[in-house]
Amino acid sequence: MKRLADTAIAVATIAFTTIVTGFGNVALAHEAGDIILRVGAAQVAPDESSSVVTTTATGPLAATAVGVEDNTQLGLNLVWMWTDSIALEVLAATPFDHDLRVSGLSQYGFSTTDLGSTKHLPPTLSALYFFGNANSMIRPYIGAGVNYTTFFSKDFTSQAASELGANGLDLDDSWGLSARAGIDIHLGDNWILNASMWAIDIDTDANFSSALGNVNASVEIDPLVYMVSLGFQF
Ligand code: NI
Repeated sequence: MKRLADTAIAVATIAFTTIVTGFGNVALAHEAGDIILRVGAAQVAPDESSSVVTTTATGPLAATAVGVEDNTQLGLNLVWMWTDSIALEVLAATPFDHDLRVSGLSQYGFSTTDLGSTKHLPPTLSALYFFGNANSMIRPYIGAGVNYTTFFSKDFTSQAASELGANGLDLDDSWGLSARAGIDIHLGDNWILNASMWAIDIDTDANFSSALGNVNASVEIDPLVYMVSLGFQF
């Protein structure tokens, strides 16, 4: 038992010394004035809920809904360290391209489920708080911010166009709050490995014209956005 304890202490001492020595060789991490650029894969995973679909001709169609599929794009974060622990961050990305689906129309005699697609950009500005200090090689963080989402390249599938007469899709822009959590792990030489996520409040009203007159549905997209990236600290 004593021998085991001695061995454990020896191993712990070596590990501790290695860590301290290793950390001593790395430049300061995340300090006031730093600019960090992270580049990686960002996935928008909607956690959507939708009102029923309403048309001019029929009124509300019970048990119908509009949904939004996942999409992954190139994500960019620009971080400016105001202090050693507080930062401002912008999320940018190449445009996300989501498939839109509609459910519940079969009971009304329509077979369309793939409604169309839309692209959107969800620029998000966040204030971040980093745990640890300027010497910490691992900096978890949380934050809060504001998101603006604008939709463009709104297209219907050929089936939606031919069967429903769908035409002229309009999706309202969205302003909403966002919450943020993540972790930066310094790899040395100013490189940082990052994993993080946003929860964003994105709501829109979808409107288009059809054989049944104007069609409307309110959709809460409310996605979780996941990002894995490599960062560089300037
Ligand atoms: Ni919402």
